[in-house]
Parts: sequence; C-alpha cells; structure tokens
Amino acid sequence: MAKEKKVHICSVCGYESLKWMGKCPECGEWNSFTEETVHKNPKTSKTTTSLKPVKISEITYSEKDERLITGISEFDRVLGGGFVPGSVTLLGGDPGIGKSTLVLQTAGELNCRILYVSGEESLQQIKLRASRLDINKPTIELLPETNVVAVSELIEKSDYNLVVIDSIQTMFHPDYDNTPGSITQIRESAYQLQNIAKKTGVPVVLVGHITKEGSIAGPKILEHTVDTVLQFEGDKNSSYRILRSLKNRFGSTNEIGIFEMLEAGLKEVKNPSEIFLSNGPAEASGSVITSTLEGSRAILIEVQALVTPAQYGNPQRVATGFDYKRLSILLAVLERRYKLKLSAFNVFLNITGGIRIEETAIDLAVCMAIASNMKEITPKNKPVILGEVGLGGEIRGVANINKRISEAVKLGYTNLYVPFSNLSVIDKNLTEYCYPVKSLKEIADLLLR
Ligand code: TYD
Ligand code: MG
Repeated sequence: MAKEKKVHICSVCGYESLKWMGKCPECGEWNSFTEETVHKNPKTSKTTTSLKPVKISEITYSEKDERLITGISEFDRVLGGGFVPGSVTLLGGDPGIGKSTLVLQTAGELNCRILYVSGEESLQQIKLRASRLDINKPTIELLPETNVVAVSELIEKSDYNLVVIDSIQTMFHPDYDNTPGSITQIRESAYQLQNIAKKTGVPVVLVGHITKEGSIAGPKILEHTVDTVLQFEGDKNSSYRILRSLKNRFGSTNEIGIFEMLEAGLKEVKNPSEIFLSNGPAEASGSVITSTLEGSRAILIEVQALVTPAQYGNPQRVATGFDYKRLSILLAVLERRYKLKLSAFNVFLNITGGIRIEETAIDLAVCMAIASNMKEITPKNKPVILGEVGLGGEIRGVANINKRISEAVKLGYTNLYVPFSNLSVIDKNLTEYCYPVKSLKEIADLLLR
C-alpha cells in the first residue's frame, strides 16, 4: 500500500518541509511554499548482480552523424548544432512569445517522424496555426493528451525522431493525485519524459511557461533535470525575438538566435546588426556604436545615453540592457579620470533593440556615450568604439577583436577606435580602419572637442 503524506514544497528550489514557512531556508525566497501530497511507495529490493559497466573505449559515437539538424540555422546554433539523441530540451518563455510557433515551424522543416503532444490547444487550433505557417506534412502527428505515462508508452513502441510536449505544465502522472501544473506533477512528468528520452534515444522538447518573476514555472529541479534550457524572449512592442541558451550540456551557452515574428511565422534574422542599429545612428550627442560578441558572432549595437541635471536628492541612474553596477563603476571612473562632474546629474543608459549586453568590451562605448551627451558634442565620422575601461581610466584589450572590426567594416564603418594593446593582433588588412587608444582621456580629447 502506498503511504500518503502532506508536505510543503518551495516552488522555486523544491525544498521540502513538513511545516509551512514564510521564507525558504534553502534559496531564501519569500512566500514560495505550497502544500502538496507526496506518495511514498514501499521500497522494492533490487538486485545489483546484473549491472554491466561498459569500457569507454568500446563506445562508438560520432557527434556529427548523430545530431538531428533542424534546418533552422538560428535554432541549430543555439542548440550547439541540432538536437542530441535522447536529450531533453526545455523551451521557456512568456505566453504568446512564440514557443508553439517555433516548435511547429521546426517540425515543418524536418523530414522525419514527429510527435507533437498538446495539452493546451485542440487539434483544430494547432491546425489553424499550421495553415498560417503553411505546414501540412503527414510526418507530423498531433496528439491531444496530458497523461505522461500514456505518452511515454506511445513513444516507446513507435519510432519517432522528435517529440514535442506543449506544455510540461499541462502534463500529469496518474500515480500522483496532485493537480497538473503543481510542483510534484511537473517534476514527475519531466522525470518520466527524461527517462523515456534516454531509453529510446528520441530527443524531447518540453515547452514551459515563465512565472511573473521571469523564471521557468515549476521547481528549479526541472532545470537541473533537463539537458538544455532555452529561453525565448522579446519585447512586447517589438517583433524581434531572441532565443537564448541558459544551460546546454552539449553546446555553448553564449549563443543567441534572432528571429522576427511576421504574419506567417518566425523568420530568421541573418544579419542582426541591422536591427540593433535602430534606424542608423541618430546624429545626436550621446549615441555611440560598438561591436559586441554574442557567442561566435559579432553584432553591431548602439549605446545611447541621456544626462540630465538632477533636481532633487540623489541623482538617478537607470540602465536598460546593461549591468547597473557596471554603469556605477564607469561613472566613477569618468568622474575621477576625466573630471566629468556627474554626481549632480541623472544618467539614463539604453542599449537599443532590446538586447542585453554582459561583456565589458562595450565599456568604452558606454563612457563615450555618456561623456558625449554631457558635453553635447556628437562624435564625428560615425566612430565605432571598442574597449574595456579599467579603474585607472586605461583602455584594456578585448577578445576576438578581428571579428568585431570585420563586422563593422562590412557594414560600412571605417572609423574604429580600438584598445592600443590589441593592435598587434589586428589583421593587416583591417589596421587601416583603426585608431589605437590607451586612455579614456586620450579618446575623449580626440572625439569630444
Ligand atoms: P504562440 O506560438 O502561440 O506563443 P506561445 O506558444 O509562446 O504562447 O504565438 C502566439 C503569438 O504569435 C500570437 O500573439 C500571434 C503571433 N503569431 C504571429 O504573429 N504570426 C504567426 O504566424 C503566428 C503563428 C503567430
Ligand atoms: Mg503555446
């Protein structure tokens, strides 16, 4: 007989407690405990005599032949070169961002047997989306089902090449009487699907929702269980969507894929620089172009700054798409090393196009955008500015400088300011476009006179 007990589980990290608690002792989250029923099945004794380890030298595997290439190159790159057999990929994102569209379009590109399990939409609704995307392939099989055990049995006895579960929050495991969407159900359904993926070698995609706080709904354990976590994000007011990898056991987590949501589905954006450069650089002070590296690609972006006198109390510092703490450091450097009296001014910083930049290689562009707006001087000849800024106001080298310069030159920018220390590694044919600079003061004197 299975025993039942009630526990309280933290919906963020999965910590279990017999009592309700206001704050999770594990992850520190407030008000995250929900009551759930857990079933403890009696232990069945297992014999271990049948275990057979395999010598690593005897396992044959060739990565290239094995992966399932989707044919959507932006998606493939984020996956690290297609789906790995038996892998589980979690695709998260806000409702309406385009998760179902992306997986359906992927299914439409592939020429193999695909099972699309939908717990959210009726067959007619999916058909409606498919006809909008002009997809009508007999290789795509739809299944309106929420019982994860029944789905697993079907996967095991059929020979699908890819399985899509839309969404994991609608699935339930019949051994547990918790409602679908509860932590126990999400966790158990994911375990079940993970096991079946490993057993059959079929890659499984789990579509997941995002909570108000921006993390994928369900316990963090879900993210630990799966092999790859992808997040589909984008601004509500813009048609551009970014596919980002947050975790990838089989590839880099730096890669992003960029799409545009059109009337007839998602279109890959092959040249992202064009969208992030808004409508060409505004001929106004406070706007600077730089070249950033997203995974293996260089993308040109525009950094905009607005500096206004602070009227009351503490001046405001607001950064969109850039780290707030990094901005504070750069403001302090500008104040000390370039004698800009920023403490009496509000500073608003924006990276256009809704992209978020983590790397320090755009420091110098940020500093120049701020200084340019403060002094109301527009840098001449559309410069592209690269470099990390040190606390002493010195300009430090950046990684992959040639890739960044090439992207700028390709788009017609021939006036680049680069760190002096990078000069020796810049390709011969690119040096003619580069002005090496050593310090914040040096570049500011050149550009903002
Ligand atoms: P959907 O894939 O249903 O989002 P999710 O599964 O993440 O909730 O996408 C829904 C939105 O996408 C909806 O607002 C309509 C829009 N859309 C288009 O603009 N063009 C299209 O071709 C499709 C299918 C959807
Ligand atoms: Mg959907």
